[in-house]
Amino acid sequence: MRINKKLVLVSLLCTGMVFLVSFKQKHDDDKAENLKILPKDISEKELHNIMRSFSMSLGVHCNYCHVAKEVPGQSRPQMDFASDDKKEKNTCREMMKMTMAINSDHLSKIKTMGDPLEEIKCVTCHMGRTTPIISVDSLPHAAH
Ligand code: HEC
Ligand code: HEC
Repeated sequence: MRINKKLVLVSLLCTGMVFLVSFKQKHDDDKAENLKILPKDISEKELHNIMRSFSMSLGVHCNYCHVAKEVPGQSRPQMDFASDDKKEKNTCREMMKMTMAINSDHLSKIKTMGDPLEEIKCVTCHMGRTTPIISVDSLPHAAH
């Protein structure tokens, strides 16, 4: 972000207003446009950190929840992050609400001040997989 602003300043000094206008347009287009749970004014960096933690918690890539369109002649698919077409994205929203509810309605009542386990996150249940372990028989070291 800081580099971008510097670049704009340099362009502005060299070639005038045109560059400022195009930067502003690009900047506005980059803003998240379909947030229903996260704050709409969240910074790009914070949003990306959260998305990275979702991906790592479930052991997936961004395209697990986000639409990726193959573009003929391009090696990388084009991501449509704002689209709600993948059911996993909407499941994820329910999971976000569930996680917040567990933390605010239940764990908040357990007073072990300063204990990091007072709050759960996606990784607490998912541990790097899309489907959490739901039976003791599936524990990695379960005796058979
Ligand atoms: C487990 C599902 C999941 C994964 C994996 C995931 N996302 Fe998301 N992403 C979401 C959800 C859900 C939202 C919408 C949150 C809301 O409604 O507040 C979102 C929103 C976004 C947005 C905002 C789009 C807009 O315009 O509203 C961006 C950008 C984004 N994700 C990027 C990424 C990137 C980059 C990755 C990979 C590093 C990634 N996401 C991985 C679920 C996911
Ligand atoms: C309290 C435990 C728990 C927490 C916390 C939790 N999940 Fe889940 N999650 C589950 C369970 C259980 C399922 C259902 C698995 C199944 O039967 O398909 C699930 C399913 C999902 C699925 C659908 C997987 C599929 O196979 O379709 C996604 C996506 C997901 N969770 C994302 C998240 C994200 C992102 C977070 C953090 C915001 C989160 N979960 C937090 C327990 C949890």
